[in-house]
Amino acid sequence: MAKPSRPTRRFLDPFKGIVTSPPPIWLMRQAGRYLPEYREIRAKAGSFLDLCYDPALAAEVTLQPIRRYGFDAAILFADILVVPDALGQSVHFAEGEGPILEPIASIRELSRLQPEATRSKYALVAETVARLRQDLPKETALIGFCGAPWTVATYMVEGRGSKDQAAARLWAYRDRDGFQALIDILVETSIDYLGQQVKAGADVLQIFDTWAGVLPDDELDRWVIEPTRQIVDGVKSSHPDVPIIGFPRGAGGSALWYVSETGVDGIGCDTAMPPYMMAEAFDEEPVVVQGNLDPLLLVTGGEPLEKRTREILERMVGKPFIFNLGHGIVPQTPPENVARLVEIVRGG
Ligand code: CP3
Repeated sequence: MAKPSRPTRRFLDPFKGIVTSPPPIWLMRQAGRYLPEYREIRAKAGSFLDLCYDPALAAEVTLQPIRRYGFDAAILFADILVVPDALGQSVHFAEGEGPILEPIASIRELSRLQPEATRSKYALVAETVARLRQDLPKETALIGFCGAPWTVATYMVEGRGSKDQAAARLWAYRDRDGFQALIDILVETSIDYLGQQVKAGADVLQIFDTWAGVLPDDELDRWVIEPTRQIVDGVKSSHPDVPIIGFPRGAGGSALWYVSETGVDGIGCDTAMPPYMMAEAFDEEPVVVQGNLDPLLLVTGGEPLEKRTREILERMVGKPFIFNLGHGIVPQTPPENVARLVEIVRGG
């Protein structure tokens, strides 16, 4: 009798150098408020972080967009601010206001962070991953993630989202050793956190660096590229085969430098990256390219959505490519536009 073959997850093909047509697709923030079934669970869960730390509910909201759309990959439901919360910084999400943290503004205050204390909360996230590996269709890949140290630090230092991340940028200029100490803590704990996700069953990892684009190139080297390189090395020293996608949003002309210096296997391109550059990236570096439809075209729908989606697809024909947005889905997105996008990408 023939042995049952191992499930093939086509999402992983581009990382093996196999070009598939149509390309695999998933969308950043594919679970979330644009889905009525998410809002229903969210209302029952208590706080947003309670939802992140409830393995049954977190697994359920991860599965919701897979059931609806059959994406090639699911992304673990959690948040990049789980890391500062697990380290002991006070983090909460105020309705309509985004995250609020008790800011950490000096090297002295770093003593409030306790890397040993992260264990119980990381274990809950790992349990979500393990459940998902059980419950997901065999052909669906599972993406684990963390925020990059720079982006997580911007929230930890500012105490909230901000338009220019000035508090972190100023600390980094004024007290390089102090800010480095914060980044070092985040590098170390992120390696541990991602390693636990891989052990629990994550197939691929993504490192979200949402605010990479506010740094000049020399600062980008120090606070984005070097810490990301350390995380990639640290994770791969225990898990050499796990593909890692970096998303240095706004890195622009430094994106290829980021790829060659960090050793990531995939590069998430933001909305501003011209598709012809995405297509050329692979000729310079053997990297999987992911991106980069404007999330607002998913709000718009219709002909504009169709036209741009086809442009991106045509540019990336023959390249190791994963279709995605250039940033996350926004809450006002009509769910039927997401269904239409998947249909277009899959040839409809
Ligand atoms: O489906 C998925 O993408 C998985 C889960 C996920 C969330 N956040 C859930 C979430 C992921 C991967 C993230 C990443 C994240 N979180 C980033 C990086 C990506 C990006 O969008 O730039 C950042 C910067 C955060 C921090 C964060 N979390 C902010 C600033 C906010 C408030 C603004 C907002 O979009 O709501 C959140 C809250 C958040 N994270 C929600 C969800 C579903 C909404 C909260 C709610 O439902 O009450």
